[in-house]
Amino acid sequence: MIQVVEILTRNETRGRRRKKHVVSGSDEIITLNNVSKAYATGAPALNGVDLHINKGEFVFIVGDSGSGKSTMIKLLLRELIPTSGDISVMGYDLVRIRHRKIPKFRRNLGIVFQDFRLLKDRNVYENVAFAQRIVQVSNKEIKRNVPSILATVGLAGKYKAKPRQLSGGEQQRVAIARALVNRPSILLADEPTGNLDPKNSWEIMKLLEQINENGTTVLVVTHNREIVNAMQKRVVTMKKGVIVSDEEKGGYIDED
Ligand SMILES: Nc1ncnc2c1ncn2[C@@H]1O[C@H](COP(=O)(O)OP(=O)(O)OP(=O)(O)O)[C@@H](O)[C@H]1O
Ligand SMILES: [Mg+2]
Repeated sequence: MIQVVEILTRNETRGRRRKKHVVSGSDEIITLNNVSKAYATGAPALNGVDLHINKGEFVFIVGDSGSGKSTMIKLLLRELIPTSGDISVMGYDLVRIRHRKIPKFRRNLGIVFQDFRLLKDRNVYENVAFAQRIVQVSNKEIKRNVPSILATVGLAGKYKAKPRQLSGGEQQRVAIARALVNRPSILLADEPTGNLDPKNSWEIMKLLEQINENGTTVLVVTHNREIVNAMQKRVVTMKKGVIVSDEEKGGYIDED
């Protein structure tokens, strides 16, 4: 279990007391404690979710449409705040985090979506370099990092291509390169193979597995039953806002 140690520190320059939450003595990188999220309308999207993920894990999140998977991803990105409960990611308390700390927090996360979300008027190199420019990496470093990460995702030869000149699988590789170039601790992927054919889906999942084997914690939301069953990873199954199963080396559970 994670230990959250609450320390009162004095901010010398401003002379006021601040609460700081520090995580110690644990390999846990993601913790949800009794998390619920209700939108303005409808039933709660998440309802009392507990989830503990250790550094270096590969976790599939599965469940039928509307079960709360994307809501969970948005909570982990601090795009949403829970209605109740606690979320800790890499030692950041996402309920109490200050607004100005959110960009620094997000630098530790890579995110990949079903629809790639590339800049259409920029080439592959620029799409990946962009992620480094917004965190003020020097041009010299960008010139070193971008070709290296493009080689990792198997796109070394395509750096000048525009997104429309690439296949869906290649576009998703660019999105993965962009998500990885700032060396995040955690990669979150929400249906990364949702727009891909079976062959490209397998290649993307194998790439995510390889990224995980190199030390990144990886969470993948997916509806791809065949791949989940074949890969034998931890599988968290959601239903109507609740985790109904959480299995090491699990499989895809039928919802019907
Ligand atoms: N912005 C919103 N406002 C109101 N309700 C929402 C909003 N976003 C999601 N919901 C509702 O919350 C529930 C969970 O949605 P969520 O997007 O997390 O599901 P999901 O598991 O990702 O589904 P899918 O597999 O279709 O992507 C659904 O009932 C959905 O209609
Ligand atoms: Mg979703």
